[in-house]
Amino acid sequence: MVRLIRDSWAKAEPYTPEISQFFYGMLFTLAPATRDFFPINMEVQRGRLVRALVHIVQMVDRPDDLLPFLRQLGRDHRKFGVIPDHYEAVGTALLASLKTQLGPDWTPAVERAWAEAFTIIARFMQDAAAKDEYPASWTATVTDHRRLTWDLALVRVEPEGQVPYQAGQYLSVEVPQRPRLWRYLSPANAPRPDGSIEFHVRAVEGGWVSRAVVSHTQPGDVWRLGPPLGRLSVDREAGRDVLMVAGGTGVAPLRALIDDLAQWGENPKVHLFYGGQTREDLYDLEELRSLAAVNPWLSVVPVVEKGPALSGGEEGTLAEAVTRHGAWPKHDVLVSGSPAMIRATVSRMLVAGTALDQIKYDPFTID
Ligand SMILES: Cc1cc2nc3c(=O)[nH]c(=O)nc-3n(C[C@H](O)[C@H](O)[C@H](O)COP(=O)(O)OP(=O)(O)OC[C@H]3O[C@@H](n4cnc5c(N)ncnc54)[C@H](O)[C@@H]3O)c2cc1C
Ligand code: HEM
Repeated sequence: MVRLIRDSWAKAEPYTPEISQFFYGMLFTLAPATRDFFPINMEVQRGRLVRALVHIVQMVDRPDDLLPFLRQLGRDHRKFGVIPDHYEAVGTALLASLKTQLGPDWTPAVERAWAEAFTIIARFMQDAAAKDEYPASWTATVTDHRRLTWDLALVRVEPEGQVPYQAGQYLSVEVPQRPRLWRYLSPANAPRPDGSIEFHVRAVEGGWVSRAVVSHTQPGDVWRLGPPLGRLSVDREAGRDVLMVAGGTGVAPLRALIDDLAQWGENPKVHLFYGGQTREDLYDLEELRSLAAVNPWLSVVPVVEKGPALSGGEEGTLAEAVTRHGAWPKHDVLVSGSPAMIRATVSRMLVAGTALDQIKYDPFTID
């Protein structure tokens, strides 16, 4: 099934823009209510859902990774107002757009493979959505917005109720400046009694949402937050030490985990490698060093690609710095950062001899 899906997608992929155009045309005819889930200007992220769908359908042979994620994704989709009929419309539109593009390559066997995979995936998402007892989304008021560097802001929000996230997870966020453009952000603190959440947002070049957050967010703005996703966590009972590898704002979920651990007297040893191109990218270093000063189980190693190494730090990419110390066979490894940084670090660690099942990261990013 998966081979048929991958081979047929390889032929269709160069035509993603055409496939997306056909897909949305058909979806909005079959289920007109779904138009309101998407941005007013569809050009902003045309193809995002099609790429996401195909990415996930191709993983149908990795149920251990996929199933927990699909449950979270199904709950997450409640925030749009998605109902079961919409899944049927999305499936029909996806298959019809692939059929139109693939012509004679769309054989009955290929069609069966896509239909079966989509049905399995959609069923898991719908089951999880139906069982979810929490609200579909939360409103949250911005109480603080501070620029930490020219392209990075710390934003604190107060949700109207406790958002049931665990340290290390991420949430999707919709901001009033960019309606219907949901983006994932990672809380940088463990859940607090007052429910407040701190986010670190870096403006990416040409970025619709991140630039608006860094430049235009103000106290009093009302955000919407989706349900938590992700599986970065520390098992305190496992008796294994922990290696954390953070690039850029990827440090946020790891800081949340450290914040969570800090409430216990005894913890596994945690080595955090925190990297960026230059010292300026390591915006959270002082805070992390202060945490390490009072928590003897935590050590922080700053890693910079350019310029001399910082005191107690190393030079090079995170992948280079971490593997310089070998395979870390006795550690659980958590990797967090941009998709490119995660790919580079994980692949180099595997070459260095780290086992894949030692490493945790959130792999389902579409960008
Ligand atoms: C699990 C997860 C957790 C995340 N946590 C955070 C967080 O805590 N803080 C944070 O600031 N961001 C975080 N992100 C990234 C965030 O969700 C957005 O992708 C990012 O802010 C860009 O959105 P945008 O609308 O500004 O850019 P878009 O308009 O979506 O994209 C504009 C351009 O920027 C490129 N681009 C998109 N994302 C990135 C990126 N991360 N780095 C470089 N180029 C990019 C795109 O390919 C495109 O060319 C997280 C992403 C994931 C998947
Ligand atoms: C098998 C079923 C589905 C899967 C696997 C799936 C997967 C995904 C994923 C992974 C994303 C996140 C993309 C990103 O921003 O990184 C996404 C976004 C989205 N999904 Fe789904 N989805 C499914 C069904 C649906 C249905 C039935 C609807 C209802 C119309 C829907 C509407 C959306 C919307 C509106 C977005 C936001 C992205 C955008 O604006 O294009 N999805 N989906």
